[in-house]
Amino acid sequence: MEKAARMRKRGQINVVLKKQPEQDALLSHQSNVLEKPEHHAFKKIQRELDEFIGLKNIKDFMKEIYAWLYLNQRREEAGLKAGKQVLHMVFRGNPGTGKTTVARLIAKMFREMGVLEKGHLIEAERADLVGEYIGHTAQKTRELVQKAIGGILFVDEAYSLARGGEKDFGKEAIDTLVKSMEDQQHSFVLILAGYPKEMDRFLKLNPGLPSRFPMKVTFPNYTVNELLQMAKKMVKERDYQLDEKGEETLKNLLSHAKEEQEDNFSNGRFIRNLLERAIRAQAVRLLEEDNYGKTELMTLKSVDFKKAAFK
Ligand SMILES: Nc1ncnc2c1ncn2[C@@H]1O[C@H](COP(=O)(O)OP(=O)(O)OP(=O)(O)O)[C@@H](O)[C@H]1O
Ligand SMILES: [Mg+2]
Repeated sequence: MEKAARMRKRGQINVVLKKQPEQDALLSHQSNVLEKPEHHAFKKIQRELDEFIGLKNIKDFMKEIYAWLYLNQRREEAGLKAGKQVLHMVFRGNPGTGKTTVARLIAKMFREMGVLEKGHLIEAERADLVGEYIGHTAQKTRELVQKAIGGILFVDEAYSLARGGEKDFGKEAIDTLVKSMEDQQHSFVLILAGYPKEMDRFLKLNPGLPSRFPMKVTFPNYTVNELLQMAKKMVKERDYQLDEKGEETLKNLLSHAKEEQEDNFSNGRFIRNLLERAIRAQAVRLLEEDNYGKTELMTLKSVDFKKAAFK
């Protein structure tokens, strides 16, 4: 028998020991609702997100913005006030935690929902925005915004714009971005991304910014187990496999690198690079062994990862 719910009534606590059928119905109703054709945009994104390891808070966040946008459409249809939708966001996360990938998915979802016309992603960093002489920066930034119209402008390491202080042209880029956000409010979405601590400091130093970015999303570092799961998935996708010792070595390498590199540890990117080096190490090993059996061709061993780690 399961303890399905606790109910508090006039100070009493009622422990309900049986799973209630209504509750079951409610849960299955909830999951079925999203199967309706009108929710195809969300389903499509959800299927892609499901491929990702971890990222529970991001998955919830995506559902929340979908629900909010959808409800606002319905409210408008019903002649009710629809809240002003400011969709600019801040992404806080260490390298390789999935920021760019998720931004791309959001762009896609917004296009499917008719929020953005094109749904493309323009990735930019300081050098793409900041010019070399007076007036150049505003022009460069405006051109980039122009390219992003109908989609998302994703500015990585956004704080680098504030790097040089008052006299630096980076400040002009920020001002131009803010102005474009206001002038073309509904035609593009701006995402500022970067390391958590630096992003927080940047937003604090620019008091006009936080209120313009109502959505703040944190991308946590992956645990060793999540990283291992991710690695296994990538191995499988590439038609390879790990033998027992290979997996053990990989796990050790991951926890060691994560500890040693701390905030610089590049999460998903680290795995991808390590795997590619291990695959090349395996190729050399098999060539030298003159060994091309199907199992051999597929198997990444401990030595391959050890070699990969020291490159
Ligand atoms: N949860 C995950 N599951 C599977 N693969 C992931 C996950 N997170 C990241 N990756 C993979 O890791 C790599 C890096 O991800 P992405 O480029 O989105 O991260 P990022 O946060 O933008 O990194 P950077 O700060 O280095 O630009 C990609 O190849 C991506 O597919
Ligand atoms: Mg990125």
